[in-house]
Amino acid sequence: MLVNATEMLQKAKAGKYAVGHFNTNNLEWTKCILQTAQELESPVIIGVSEGAGKYMTGFKTVATMVDTMVDALGITVPVALHLDHGSYEGAIACIKAGFSSVMFDGSHLPFEENLAKTRELVAATHILGLSLEAEVGAIGGEEDGVVGKGECADPAECKLIADLGVDFLAAGIGNIHGKYPANWAGLSFDTLAAINAQVGDLPLVLHGGSGIPEDMIRKAISLGVSKINVNTECQLAFQAATREYIEAGKDLQGKGYDPRKLLAPGCEAIKATVKEKMELFGSVGKAF
Ligand code: 13P
Repeated sequence: MLVNATEMLQKAKAGKYAVGHFNTNNLEWTKCILQTAQELESPVIIGVSEGAGKYMTGFKTVATMVDTMVDALGITVPVALHLDHGSYEGAIACIKAGFSSVMFDGSHLPFEENLAKTRELVAATHILGLSLEAEVGAIGGEEDGVVGKGECADPAECKLIADLGVDFLAAGIGNIHGKYPANWAGLSFDTLAAINAQVGDLPLVLHGGSGIPEDMIRKAISLGVSKINVNTECQLAFQAATREYIEAGKDLQGKGYDPRKLLAPGCEAIKATVKEKMELFGSVGKAF
């Protein structure tokens, strides 16, 4: 059974660790993330962008697949299925499709509109027992074709959004989706500390979790980050392992062309990446 992400993230904030949000793209990705979480007894959040949802033929397909797979694999750790960077319409669609958690990303809208739409979605999610993530301050880089510059959130605006009753909050602190450029300035811990002081116990979310140095991850967790989103690193791990398999000519040997064999090294690489992140975030053994 899927659960919302509120309780697991409140526990993480109190216990000073973070729960990993890993984006899924297909059945293999989902299976690898779930199996690793179970093996490590870690709570986990499966993230789905609107683009990935469309790729998988719709949110209903995704919700049915993840929910069924949790049962079929005998997964007992807490699993939340979460819409990543949702539009207002996307959030409503995921609420109807059976997701247990949604993010409404109104960070590109005028602040008053972000506030008003987030308020409506707090009501819509809470009446059904779902959790809601909101966002203040744009996160840089490219996600589903939308390119952002990366802008630090205003702590006062974070407080106004937090006071609506959202369950966790993504706040831009210089983080970027995708690969970090060589001249990246790093995370703004002053901004993070100021936001954390404003929002109290509310769990904070760090997007763009791929490629952030480990010491920065640990410091972010110590300053209130309780959910860390990772996508690109799993993609790169999958790509490198698949490339190696093909370059070694293994797809040409025996039944090496069978997708179950062809995709296996990439899957093992995703599992290793998810494990590494869960260990770094401190969520191992925190499921029960
Ligand atoms: P990365 O692709 O940089 O890991 O970011 C993932 C993310 O923040 C999804 O919302």
